[in-house]
Amino acid sequence: MNDDHAKPTQSLVGSSPPRSDGRAKVTGEARYVDDLSVPGMWHGATVRSPHHAARIVSITLDADHDDPDVVLVTAGDLPGPNVVKLIVDDWPVLADESVNHVGEPVALVAAPTRARARRAASAVRVEYEPREGVVSIDDALRGDPRTDGNLNMLAECHINHGNVDLAMTEAAHVIEGVYATGHQEHIYIETQGVIATPTPDGGIDIIGSLQCPFYVHKAITHFLGCADEEVRVRQSVTGGAFGGKEDYPSILAAHATLLAHAAGCPVKIVYDRDEDIIATTKRHPSRVMHRTGVEADGSLHAMEIDVLLDAGAYTTLSPVVLSRAVLHAAGAYACPNVRIRGRALATNTSPNGAFRGFGAPQTIFAVERQMDRIARTLDIDPLTLRERNAYRIGDVTPTGQTLTESVGASCCLEEATRRSDFLRKWEAYEAARAARDPDDPSPWRGIGLSLYWHGSGFTGSGEHMMRAPAAVRLLPSGKVEILTAQTEMGQGTLTVLAQIVADATGLPFDQVMVADSDTAMVPDSGPTVASRTVMVIGGILARAAADLVETLRVDLANRRGLRRDDVRLTDGRFIDRKSGDLGAFDSVADDYLAAKGNLHVERRFTPPEGETFDDTSYRGTAYSAYGWGCDVVEVRVDPITLAVTAEHATVACDVGRAIHPLLCAGQIEGGTLQAIGFGLLEEMKMDRGRCVNDRMATYLIPTAADAPDMETLLVEDANPRHPFGAKGVGELPMDGGAPATLAAIENAAGIVSSTVPATPERLVDDLEAGETTQALSGGSANSGEEAS
Ligand code: MOS
Repeated sequence: MNDDHAKPTQSLVGSSPPRSDGRAKVTGEARYVDDLSVPGMWHGATVRSPHHAARIVSITLDADHDDPDVVLVTAGDLPGPNVVKLIVDDWPVLADESVNHVGEPVALVAAPTRARARRAASAVRVEYEPREGVVSIDDALRGDPRTDGNLNMLAECHINHGNVDLAMTEAAHVIEGVYATGHQEHIYIETQGVIATPTPDGGIDIIGSLQCPFYVHKAITHFLGCADEEVRVRQSVTGGAFGGKEDYPSILAAHATLLAHAAGCPVKIVYDRDEDIIATTKRHPSRVMHRTGVEADGSLHAMEIDVLLDAGAYTTLSPVVLSRAVLHAAGAYACPNVRIRGRALATNTSPNGAFRGFGAPQTIFAVERQMDRIARTLDIDPLTLRERNAYRIGDVTPTGQTLTESVGASCCLEEATRRSDFLRKWEAYEAARAARDPDDPSPWRGIGLSLYWHGSGFTGSGEHMMRAPAAVRLLPSGKVEILTAQTEMGQGTLTVLAQIVADATGLPFDQVMVADSDTAMVPDSGPTVASRTVMVIGGILARAAADLVETLRVDLANRRGLRRDDVRLTDGRFIDRKSGDLGAFDSVADDYLAAKGNLHVERRFTPPEGETFDDTSYRGTAYSAYGWGCDVVEVRVDPITLAVTAEHATVACDVGRAIHPLLCAGQIEGGTLQAIGFGLLEEMKMDRGRCVNDRMATYLIPTAADAPDMETLLVEDANPRHPFGAKGVGELPMDGGAPATLAAIENAAGIVSSTVPATPERLVDDLEAGETTQALSGGSANSGEEAS
């Protein structure tokens, strides 16, 4: 910020004003895309592949279909490149010669009503020649027909730190484990939907439920081969996204655009739940192999980690998801020798993309279960092992980044375990298990913990390259408007950005407006992803807002012939040290606007001093800041059915600074519940690449009835490199819930599970396979498969 003349006298940051979008949402005033209608609007429907791999022989509309008002669009009708512009140009807007996953869009229809559009879609005849595909990581490792039986790798990355081979020979124990996670579906309350409206001058206007309006803008301008001004993308009120509306809305928008051009009228497409579950992106299934060399006291000496992700049929965001997975794979622990290999393999399943945590929940699950395996093997309790290895200030990460400040790992560990009385309970449950009468039907209890970290902002040099712009603008009556591309998806963006600008200007909260996320109106401040909004965009806005006030102050002093340094803004009024009151902020602002027309201040993100990252060698500052967290989960296990209930969760998260403590705690509670769901319940059942539980009645997520009592502890180890000290909180709480839950099951039942979700069926399998605490404390390491 500029100087201290305009120093705010209030502090909204750190308080919890009512969220600005709350009223409209609870009263039903908020209009989601399916509530919107445009005059003359038709409805679109999608014809999808029933095969996971096939050649398309022909597509025709049934001759008996008698509705004259139907348009049919196939790949042959595309005006430009058949590609959704993202990282790699391999994702078709419509399948052309072949299909690569069940649910892949093959043809589109539009008709005046939704019912007629659906009827038309079911009258489209597609002839296929099915072929062999790969439908799992195991299949993919055996080779892919698409790459002549070779490994079909869509992304790869490596980290090398120290000398792992030598260190393994020096270690007192070498412990191996293999960990796996499956698909996770976002189940945002609102399914995907957009409306595309042709404009009189030949352009296209898109409104929809989306996370990143400029991603859609980039995809559509590329696809149409048109100028930026010809495409306008706006976000409608959005009912959740969790990463699932990062990439997929681009394909929906392209479909609606095609149909709108073909039909010559606006077209709306809103997915049904089953097509949303089948066709849209999901969390990457993973298999992570660990080999860890430890000292006799449990200190980490060497880690070798192999990360495999199932990318699905197309690249989408897999390279960046893999990168984040790998960068978090060694967990919140210092280790001098680390080697990590990451690979994302193509399969014939729907493309996997962004989902809260972006690869980290998978690798954190693996490393946390591995830490428990080490603890068990060495007969150390899980807390002591983590205390011994948790990052501290001055430690160096596997990319060679020295952690110089804001390392809340130990503090989170201490807070959550003290509050939950972790060690005492853990020991009591261990003793109870050992003394258990097998015929006693009373429920078993257990407690488990996890420690985790999560980088804030884009990985590596991402923020440096983007240098994101964001702006504020003076409105009449002394209001200030925020101009960014950041979207509200339920997480509270509108409220926290307004708090930050209110504090930077000294204005009351209700004098700060936030412009709609509309590509025609706001600068491209980048996507609302990667836990970057508060830290990166909040920081730019704080500077821009302070500069806006400074411009008003200097102008006022100049116009009145006063010494600049004598003029200050206090409690909403400009005051001159000698002559006293110069007027309220709103009247000074109106005078300025009358004289100069407008006041618009745009600033760009400036990376903190000395932060660089080499994308090739994976050395340097991977993230400008890290959030830290510790989850303690307490479970009850039914001894007959092995059904698990999460009864209590104590979560401590170091977010740097909580801008809005209530919303921040809400993010932590929601993320933790989603993570416990990932650990216990959520299972996408796949049969040869086809999801067979494609309804909310069959794909189970935790409801309020499944939610444990939750205690949230905000740890604020401020990061001095960023305004207010805030780091990210969006993804962090997704990382630790699953491993802590499985650790609690281990404590209760003695079953050492390495796969989520830990359903009763899985637990029985684990038990029958001898994956038990007894087997481990006998000193035998996991015999898991070797990395291939
Ligand atoms: Mo994304 S998983 O919303 O960074």
